[in-house]
Amino acid sequence: MKLFIDTAITEEIREAASYGIISGVTTNPSLLAKSGRKLEDVIEEITTLVNGPISAEVTEADADTMYNQAKQIVKEINNENITIKLPMTIDGIKVCKKLSSEGIKTNVTLIFSVPQAILAMEAGATFISPFMGRMDDRYDSHDAGYNLIEEIDEVRRIYGYKSKIIAASIRNVEHVKEAALAGADIATIPFKVIKQMYEHPLTTSGLATFKKDAEGK
Ligand code: E4P
Repeated sequence: MKLFIDTAITEEIREAASYGIISGVTTNPSLLAKSGRKLEDVIEEITTLVNGPISAEVTEADADTMYNQAKQIVKEINNENITIKLPMTIDGIKVCKKLSSEGIKTNVTLIFSVPQAILAMEAGATFISPFMGRMDDRYDSHDAGYNLIEEIDEVRRIYGYKSKIIAASIRNVEHVKEAALAGADIATIPFKVIKQMYEHPLTTSGLATFKKDAEGK
């Protein structure tokens, strides 16, 4: 499973990229607001840090305006990794179809059901983003997010859709494991959780013992 980082804080992206395991970046308007910077500035900087798909989300609701906004982002950044993140709405899917037919990478976001995933895959989305954490919250369940991804993956297999599944809204390392087991191609993960993936209490205690033994204590 490929690992993307889910943030618009470029210091986090720079640090995670130095670990050598990051293949792409996702941002959204809430993450951008936290960065306090303009979308184009942040995305432009990210292109210098990670050589992989970088999702920039549109904010317009109407299809024509959304399409123009997407084209403007693509033109301004002018980098083949730019991926236009689109909302799971009638307008968003219309724009997905249009951009996909023009060869522009797309990521349909806020997917919470298999029928929504089918719409996005039919429209030729490069990526679709089911949200694990928010699914678990909504249904007060530990496996709602897992089941959603597993079912989308099954439908994709039956019909031969090419869209890649990005497990989004990852809150903890358990979600990372579930995303992988459910068949996600990619998990987009907050920086804090990426760091937690390296940790296990037995690794920590094992290392302490090895260190002590190596020093002959
Ligand atoms: C996906 O691309 C989104 O940016 C993100 O994963 C949303 O996660 P949240 O539910 O923690 O806001």
